[in-house]
Amino acid sequence: MITRIYNISKIYTWNPLYNSLDIYENKDILIKDGRIVEISKNIDLGIEKNLDAKNAIVTPGFIDSHTHPIFGGNRSNEYIERLEGSTYDEIKKNGGGIISSILKTRECNFDQLYENSYLNIKDFIKYGTTTIEAKSGYGLSVDDEIKSLKIIKKINSKLDIDIIPTFLGAHDIPPEYIKNKQIYIDLICNKMIPQIAKEKLAVFCDVFCEPGYFNLKETEVIVNKAKEYNLKPRLHVDEFVDSSGAELAVKLGAYSADHLMSVSDSGIKALAKSKTIATLLPGTTFFLNKNQYANGRKMIDQGCNVSIATDFNPGTCTIKSMSNIMHLAMQKCGLTLEEAFLGSTYNAAKSVGKENSIGLVKENYFADLILWNLTDLSEIPYWFDSCLSKIKYVIKKGNLI
Ligand code: NIG
Ligand code: FE
Repeated sequence: MITRIYNISKIYTWNPLYNSLDIYENKDILIKDGRIVEISKNIDLGIEKNLDAKNAIVTPGFIDSHTHPIFGGNRSNEYIERLEGSTYDEIKKNGGGIISSILKTRECNFDQLYENSYLNIKDFIKYGTTTIEAKSGYGLSVDDEIKSLKIIKKINSKLDIDIIPTFLGAHDIPPEYIKNKQIYIDLICNKMIPQIAKEKLAVFCDVFCEPGYFNLKETEVIVNKAKEYNLKPRLHVDEFVDSSGAELAVKLGAYSADHLMSVSDSGIKALAKSKTIATLLPGTTFFLNKNQYANGRKMIDQGCNVSIATDFNPGTCTIKSMSNIMHLAMQKCGLTLEEAFLGSTYNAAKSVGKENSIGLVKENYFADLILWNLTDLSEIPYWFDSCLSKIKYVIKKGNLI
């Protein structure tokens, strides 16, 4: 348990009051019971354990607000197929895509799926991510969805990273219901949601709202049922085509509307007027080798609150590093350095409903911190992948992890 961090060259944090970046120079951080209690010059109070930052810069730990880390197998074959000219849609039609991960996930018993998923999640820490949102969604049966969420709960208890669980039973239509989608939706609404809520296995409920998956009406039915059980909405919308998913996300009070590669101007307007965070996942566009990145610049200029995340999953993005995502968001979505930083810290915290405890270096916030062997914030996206060797320490709730 660290109680004071000293010799910090600069602390970077968002200032929600002025909506700008704050930089504190030559200040120490005092921590008590896992929380920051003071940020000031030369704190010295008979401190038990000091950490010499040796001139490091300090940022909040990254918050990755959109991941799918619970799955069996992998889909490297699809990566090759795409390079040979197949599209995501064609691969799905030929038996690949989400369904192929469903079959591999169902083959795993609890321990095997736990082991795979544990290793998937453990890696995030070394890239400086201290909180992730993690979705189920590769089980798509009552038992396999519950198994996935129980695995998230167990990993959360074993690893120092905090994991916020999301139920994504509406990720795709499982093969046994392909001709009877309505029966699967009924199963989600009448069995999965009540049981998951009863066992307190999820905080959020997500739906892949996209033609060929779940339409607007079906999404609304599922979200309304989830809300009855106190599961909060967040949605995958307007990824491949615009289907007014962003507008629906706003109407349903979603915490976050994610992907938005194809969002319309009216969708952007709706998001701008709302509290729903627009979450960009540029790693997915990159990994799918597409050109149409979400237009983050336009969204921010119109007044949206933008967050960025990895979307780590076996099919469309295997990136775990938020430094890489900052790099892509700046190069491909038009975000400035400050906006990419905000999107991976404070706005990401908002999108998971935790903006009062994580995402800032501030008194009363958890001491979730990254100490970087860098001299300036711009070096984080600049070094992107090789950032790994620039991370001196990752601190979670005051502990070195
Ligand atoms: O966010 N878009 C839906 N879900 C995932 C992809 C899942 C998969 O292909 O396995 C995503 O990109
Ligand atoms: Fe996703």
